[in-house]
Amino acid sequence: MQIIILDNPDQVATHAEQWVTEVIKQKSTPVLGLATGTTPIQLYKRLVQRHQTAQLSFANVTTFNLDEYHNIAADNAQSYRKFMKDNLFDHIDIDQNKTFLPICQQDQNPRIQGLAYEKKIRNAGGIDLQILGIGANGHIGFNEPTSSLASRTRIKTLTKQTLQDNSRLFDKDEYQPTMAMTMGIATILDARYVLLMATGTNKAAAVKQMIMGPVTAMCPASALQMHENAIILLDKEAACELS
Ligand code: F6R
Repeated sequence: MQIIILDNPDQVATHAEQWVTEVIKQKSTPVLGLATGTTPIQLYKRLVQRHQTAQLSFANVTTFNLDEYHNIAADNAQSYRKFMKDNLFDHIDIDQNKTFLPICQQDQNPRIQGLAYEKKIRNAGGIDLQILGIGANGHIGFNEPTSSLASRTRIKTLTKQTLQDNSRLFDKDEYQPTMAMTMGIATILDARYVLLMATGTNKAAAVKQMIMGPVTAMCPASALQMHENAIILLDKEAACELS
C-alpha cells in the first residue's frame, strides 16, 4: 500500500485527478472503475474542468461502476447512473454506451447479471484504475463487513449502518433501496491499480483498520493490503488515528 497523507480534501482530489489523467493519457483504450458517494465528487469536478480547459478526451475511455441499487430505473434521481451522468458523464466526451453499471431489475436474475458484468469487465481488458471510497464500517463498493474476500459481482443486502449513513441523501418520505448489486472484493483486487480516497474524521477508524488491522472480511477494505498497486489518499483528518 502506498499511503499518501495530504492536508485537506482539495489536495486529495487534485492528487487523484493526476492519477486518472495519467492513465487516460498513457493507455490507448483506458478502462476506469468508478465510485459514487460524496468522496469522489471533487475528483469528477476536476476531471470535467480538465476536459473543458485542457481538452482531456474521454472518447476512448470505458468505465465500470462499483455498484448500483437493485431494481432502480436509470432515470430515478437516486440511481447511480443518474449520479454519474450529473457529476461526470454528461459533461465530458465519453461514449455513454461504454459506461457500465451492475444493473439488476426485478425480473432479472442477480446471479446471471453478476456473471455478465464480470465477463464485460474481462472483455474490456480488465480495469486499469479503480477509484474507491470507504464506508465508516470499512466497506468498499457495497461489500459490507463479512463479505468474502473472494467475492465477485453479486447482490447484497445493505447493513443498517450503511442505510443510516446514506439516509442523508434521501428525502424523508422517499423510498431508500435496501439491496444493491456490487463488484466483489476479488473483482476490485483484479484492477491493475486501485486508488482509495478517504477524508474526514468519520472515516478515521475504518482507515486505521484498513491499514493497520489484520486482513479480514470484517473490514473489507483491509483486502487492499494484498494488492500490489494500492494507492491510499488521505486527508489529515482521515489519517488521524494512524501512528
Ligand atoms: C460508492 C461506494 C461506497 C462509497 C462509500 C463512501 O459507489 O461503493 O463504497 O465509496 O460508502 O461513501 P462516501 O464517499 O459518500 O463517504
